[in-house]
Amino acid sequence: MFSKKSTPIGLDIGSAYIKVAKVNDTKKGYELAFFDILPIQPGIIKDEIISDKDSLANSIKELLKEVGIKRCKTVIGLSGHFSVITKRITLPLMTEQELNLSIKYEAEQYVPFDIDDIDVAFQILGPIAEQKGQMDVILVAAKKKLIEDYSEVVEKAGLMPAIVDTDSFAISNLHEVNYGANAKDNIAVINIGARITNIVILQNGMPAFTRDYNIGSNYHTEELKRSLNISEEDAERLKMKSSSAGISPDDAQRIINSASDELCGEIYKEFEYFKSAREIDIERVVLSGGTALIEGFSNTMAERLGMQVEVIDPFRNIKIPDKLDADYIKEIAPIAAVAIGLALRRVGDG
Ligand SMILES: Nc1ncnc2c1ncn2[C@@H]1O[C@H](COP(=O)(O)OP(=O)(O)OP(=O)(O)O)[C@@H](O)[C@H]1O
Ligand SMILES: [Mg+2]
Repeated sequence: MFSKKSTPIGLDIGSAYIKVAKVNDTKKGYELAFFDILPIQPGIIKDEIISDKDSLANSIKELLKEVGIKRCKTVIGLSGHFSVITKRITLPLMTEQELNLSIKYEAEQYVPFDIDDIDVAFQILGPIAEQKGQMDVILVAAKKKLIEDYSEVVEKAGLMPAIVDTDSFAISNLHEVNYGANAKDNIAVINIGARITNIVILQNGMPAFTRDYNIGSNYHTEELKRSLNISEEDAERLKMKSSSAGISPDDAQRIINSASDELCGEIYKEFEYFKSAREIDIERVVLSGGTALIEGFSNTMAERLGMQVEVIDPFRNIKIPDKLDADYIKEIAPIAAVAIGLALRRVGDG
């Protein structure tokens, strides 16, 4: 009954980088066991589909070798506008067992996918004070095909898939661990990767709304390629501030800033929609994902949205021990957010 919960690794399979992390529970709190990333070949994950499972599994194996682990329990995260849907819904009070029996039926009314193609999970948040006899529930629906494909790749890499989570829950969990759940203002935690943006809106510290969008920093890459007539590799180099054949850094930065502004314009439109359709007025943003590393991005976002934008610190309450390269990990910290959030899950959690 009091068996020790095993500590899994968090594996974030993005379209630009795979990230792996493990976080130990110690008497003094959380401590990072390891974190590492590996770039993957562009195009292996495209349009929410894995095109080459063997190659992806091999990349994961390579990354596992770098951190020196083999077979272990693994938490994977899913995202995607066409594959994952998370909704907060109101249902009559019932037990978890009762809801287990009716969840598919409930999901059918809220999810625009064919019910036979999806797996459904839920979490009961609790009774609603203002509505007697009703409770808040978070419903998660993901395409079976996506879950099966990711699980297959993870198994091919020699790991044991233990929990399938979503990237949105991972960042929301990470936020809670590092910043607490007491904030009174409405916060948008936004994770922007290469091709997907996850937005989670926290009200009173609880996720009130989450959605995935098909936008990300590939847009910067595309704009650099198009405007300067350069290759993908050169565009990526310019994003990382490395010089690239004959292109002035100022010119590149101008293109990057304008792409940032357009990307944030899309987010602004979503915020306006939250305000008008859902009466949620967002007061500030906590930003994660590789896009947060782009020079000037968080400032552009703050200007465009007219609010404070803070880049997430995944290690505010997670100690990085001396044996790890803390400087490097802190430098790329926003990229670690999803993997660390996944690594905080414990096998045996509800
Ligand atoms: N140091 C850096 N400077 C600028 N941009 C960076 C830096 N590091 C990463 N990026 C950009 O961040 C993006 C990758 O971020 P992230 O790892 O969060 O995405 P991902 O999880 O692989 O993708 P997705 O989840 O969207 O499929 C890439 O577009 C990359 O160019
Ligand atoms: Mg990602």
